[in-house]
Amino acid sequence: MAETKKLMRALAGEVLDTPPIWMMRQAGRYLPEYRATRARAGDFLSLCYTPELAAEVTLQPIRRYGFDAAILFADILLVPQALGAELWFETGEGPRLSTVTTQADLDRLKGPEDIHDHLAPVYETVRILARELPRETALIGFAGAPWTVATYMIAGRGTPDQGPAHALMREDRATFEALLERITEATIAYLSRQIEAGAEVVKLFDSWAGSLKGEDFDAWAVAPAKRIIAALKARHPGVPVIAFPREAGPRYVGFARATGADCVALDNSVSAQWAAANVQVDGCVQGNLDPRLLVTGGEELVEETRRIVRAFAGGPHIFNLGHGITPDADPENVSRMIEAVRGGRA
Ligand code: CP3
Repeated sequence: MAETKKLMRALAGEVLDTPPIWMMRQAGRYLPEYRATRARAGDFLSLCYTPELAAEVTLQPIRRYGFDAAILFADILLVPQALGAELWFETGEGPRLSTVTTQADLDRLKGPEDIHDHLAPVYETVRILARELPRETALIGFAGAPWTVATYMIAGRGTPDQGPAHALMREDRATFEALLERITEATIAYLSRQIEAGAEVVKLFDSWAGSLKGEDFDAWAVAPAKRIIAALKARHPGVPVIAFPREAGPRYVGFARATGADCVALDNSVSAQWAAANVQVDGCVQGNLDPRLLVTGGEELVEETRRIVRAFAGGPHIFNLGHGITPDADPENVSRMIEAVRGGRA
């Protein structure tokens, strides 16, 4: 049967009249229905680990807006937790983890195939979604890329410059490499299970790829993504992979070819014209609206949305934001953005 889901067609390289749309963090605090379900769950991690509620918040933006794809509701930091790290969220501040900075810390972590009992609720969420999503809506699974996950595991929190991870890379390369290796293997195992449970596409979030320069970018952004994608393609041929090396700048060029990704997600620091000429030449791209525009709205939101659609109209494109929608965004602005995309290329 010919593929009818617009997202899958764009990922296969088809140029569509209007691009499929979804948004990073589309299930989130800007939506009152999300805040209500999160309150029922009690806290963010309980929401992630309660399949019925995680599926519910995944479906909320699909019901409200009719996006072309749903992204599994979970978090990239569930993998470190499944490996044995402690994880909690400080209200108003973000994630905290027990740190991994020595061989002894690493020895205390579990093996990459020992994560599945802990992550079983996530696989159950995927199974529920595969049953309940409208037939035209694609289901995206995801994981953090090894470098980004490692930056949180090494520092025990988010960091502005990923300093602790860079320091470990320089000072104890063996431990750093072994940690990246463990995360890479766990990520392959985790994404494989998501695909077996019903994810049709998977996305690798490398939110901190931009702090890797030169050979470090090749070693810790390109090489792990290439390995994960090759392993997934060997086990699950035909399942497309979206890679998001955020803030990669000039290193976006050739990233799809170097890693085997079917689509590269663009942040909003690169211009759409530049990316069309230099990145989209290799295949599908996703992005790159500035999420601030969903806070500020107005004509600028509509103009900028149309400009991005026009810039990428010559090749396969998935309309998305350059990063996640923020809690202060106006849900009405999301409707305006969708209307500007689907209302044609005026
Ligand atoms: O996109 C989606 O709708 C799917 C769900 C999703 C979440 N996190 C839910 C979430 C996805 C794909 C992620 C990925 C993620 N998580 C990344 C990579 C993408 C990026 O944003 O760069 C990172 C770095 C994380 C780690 C993380 N999780 C941080 C730093 C934070 C705190 C910052 C914040 O926005 O509060 C989270 C929490 C988080 N993950 C929330 C959501 C909806 C907010 C939690 C809440 O409800 O309080």
